[in-house]
Amino acid sequence: MQAILLVGGQGTRLRPLTLTTPKPMLPVAGVPFVTHQLARLAAAGFDHVVLATSYRAEVFAAHFGDGASLGLRLSYVVETEPLGTGGAIRNAAAALDGGDDPVVVQNGDVLSGHDLAAQVATHESTGAVATLHLVTVEDARAYGCVPTDAAGRVLAFHEKMPNPVSRQINAGCYVLDRAVVDAIPAGTVVSVERETFPALLAGGAPVVGVVDDSYWLDVGTPAAYVQAGVDIVTGVVASPAYRPNGTDVLVDPTATVDPSASVVGGTALGPGVEVGAGAVVAASVVQHGVRIGAGAVVTRSAIGAGAVVGPGCVLADAVVADGASLG
Ligand code: GTP
Repeated sequence: MQAILLVGGQGTRLRPLTLTTPKPMLPVAGVPFVTHQLARLAAAGFDHVVLATSYRAEVFAAHFGDGASLGLRLSYVVETEPLGTGGAIRNAAAALDGGDDPVVVQNGDVLSGHDLAAQVATHESTGAVATLHLVTVEDARAYGCVPTDAAGRVLAFHEKMPNPVSRQINAGCYVLDRAVVDAIPAGTVVSVERETFPALLAGGAPVVGVVDDSYWLDVGTPAAYVQAGVDIVTGVVASPAYRPNGTDVLVDPTATVDPSASVVGGTALGPGVEVGAGAVVAASVVQHGVRIGAGAVVTRSAIGAGAVVGPGCVLADAVVADGASLG
């Protein structure tokens, strides 16, 4: 089977980190985030994945090449103007192999342990034209919600609302009939969530939701981005792109940590990082070349490449730009 990964967004909520690196390429547990998704697709038996790029398009192919190291065949398409999720899918379809098989589409910023094979099987057994992964959240007010009937048929797509009619939300992974992809208008901005799916429902087409409440995290905010790395490094969620090392931290072999410093709680230190005497780094993502001074305390933070955290600095829930110098 083939998949399309949507990786062209601007990632505005993760600025300033995304000013230099697109969100799907930010390091999570030692590798660019999207590596975890690609490895999961490879493990699920996918062989061809099209990356739908736009913002900072060039960095994806430069890093992943033809995909052979992941056991995949990767293709890249570029939108010169971002086309939204639906337009991106339509644009990426040009790079898919021929045939009528359904296509899996994933948002490039979701860490999910859900059963993709079961989602594909449901698509086939129900005869749906689109099958969506849904998750149940405590508070759906921040999301559009997607109620279903007892048989899983999607009843509506609601925008964010103060009193959501369901706790089920769109989890950003779809199985789509090729005809659905081909029917999206080409070369124009389209939202699959706000336009394509509601139009399918309005036309009476069968759209099915599969509720799977396995681990799921939308890595859109700084807190969620840091959490994704922590959850992989501490084993809360398994990734075929991460080999557990018997500890709850990941320290690149080229990083240097003073023996009196403590690096704990799912922290990942990138190449060349230096951590000074007595410093504490907990539950944080520290990109390559960062220097953390003596006695500094860094908690639940994302530190951009080459930044300097001066001696004694205390950072909690912070996002530090590449190359910044604090303290
Ligand atoms: P924010 O600006 O912080 O909302 O992040 P974002 O730009 O990633 O937007 P959002 O989280 O809504 O996007 C969901 C997924 O779709 C992400 O994986 C994006 O990379 C991707 N995406 C969003 N818009 C586009 C687009 O116009 N083209 C492509 N190719 N991908 C997109």
